[in-house]
Amino acid sequence: MKKMTINASARLSRVNRNIFGHFSEHLGRCIYEGIYVGENSTIPNTNGIRNDVSAALRELEVPVLRWPGGCFADEYHWMDGIGEKSTRKKMINTHWGGVTEDNSFGTHEFFELCRQIGCEPYIAGNLGSGTVQEMSQWVEYMTFGGVSPMADLRRKNGRDEPWKLKYFGIGNESWGCGGNMRPQYYADLYRQYQTYCRNYDGNELYKVACGPNADDYGWTEEIMRALKPWHTKAISLHYYTIPTGDWNKKGDAVNFSEGEYYGTVKNALRIDEIISRHLDIMSVYDPAHEIGLIVDEWGNWCDVEKGTNPGFLYQQNTMRDAVTAALNLDIFIKHSDRIVMANIAQAVNVLQSVILTEGDKMVKTPTYHVFDLYRRHMDGERVFTSIDNFEKEGIPALSHAATVKNDELSVTITNTLLKETQDIEMDITGFSDNLSITQAQILTTDDVRIHNTFDSAANVALKDFSDYSEDRGRIMIKLPPCSIVAITAVKK
Ligand code: AHR
Repeated sequence: MKKMTINASARLSRVNRNIFGHFSEHLGRCIYEGIYVGENSTIPNTNGIRNDVSAALRELEVPVLRWPGGCFADEYHWMDGIGEKSTRKKMINTHWGGVTEDNSFGTHEFFELCRQIGCEPYIAGNLGSGTVQEMSQWVEYMTFGGVSPMADLRRKNGRDEPWKLKYFGIGNESWGCGGNMRPQYYADLYRQYQTYCRNYDGNELYKVACGPNADDYGWTEEIMRALKPWHTKAISLHYYTIPTGDWNKKGDAVNFSEGEYYGTVKNALRIDEIISRHLDIMSVYDPAHEIGLIVDEWGNWCDVEKGTNPGFLYQQNTMRDAVTAALNLDIFIKHSDRIVMANIAQAVNVLQSVILTEGDKMVKTPTYHVFDLYRRHMDGERVFTSIDNFEKEGIPALSHAATVKNDELSVTITNTLLKETQDIEMDITGFSDNLSITQAQILTTDDVRIHNTFDSAANVALKDFSDYSEDRGRIMIKLPPCSIVAITAVKK
């Protein structure tokens, strides 16, 4: 029996709901087909946006959605994506398969998508190949309510009122696909571009600077040296889990060995140390912690599915993805005093997606169900916990998170081992000796490679969990191998 101690009266940090955010890029079948099919499609849609997909994202309470990229953001010219659709300029999506982008999904369509989902928009501006004027005018177009060239243009295109836009990124991966810049050069450009991104009519932008790639601590050092809290509210980190650790042969999304499973978990867990070290550097330059960290791209990146366009990055999603999603979210929750947002890559049909589509069919992936389980932690207060953990196969056997919100205690626990059941006794203080469990759910499969398909969409699905008992403030649970359990309790 492993002991877990929870002190619900020791409140450590608030878990920003934006930690459960998503990312949608003009990449492969994410936007086109996956989200946007156009008003004339036979697939049921509202203003061109698939009803099934927007409903599934709304159910997940997606808090924030990042768009239009990714690498695409730094070659996106927003003016090509407004106005009468038939006259919109076509362009080549050079990063992702060299396909023609017809710009039928642009600024207006993105805000409509966010309206349908009920989430905050997070827009990534083009610093790599765009001008200061272009970025400045985009902000004016979206957020200025008075009379001006851009506000008038927006009105001409059918939108009277300005939109509310908070999150605005200035460049994406400027150290790589966004211009191959050195940090000092980027920091100077950032300072210049952000100057002209104005706050109109009480719309206050939350500006995000391009942060490091994975463990590039030198980038963080230089950026933090150059940027002050009045320039930026946050810097972003991108970290992808490559199952094999080899970018040239990342590993198959479904047909992987047990060894590869444990290797993937190990690579996913690296993000904990990476985050801690970036935060330490940030503290040196910003001791008051006014600048937050956003993990605005994360997830498993596997080889593309056989027979699919290599530039589309389409991959299946198994119980392995569910486990690593839970581990990542636990780590973000642990660092929630400094992590203000995280966006998994990417929402639909790309990398570690929560949704896959094929024609008019849609499936929710195992990763979707993890986000569903973790909704209970949104805006909760992280409380003190300790657990009798141990290592096997080179990884910790257990991972967990515990929060309190509105007098409800929520605990999520993951058993990462593929063969061993784990008995856990949760000792809860600072809450109540008289508990009532209001919800207990589990996500588990007999084989970690199991996934949902268009013909069998519920191979991996949430089930009610009953393998627990409760006795005077203690909860005893039996965690099956490779499982994620979520329990919510209230005071009786
Ligand atoms: O998510 C796919 C790509 O990964 C993004 O476009 C880019 O920002 C990152 O390298």
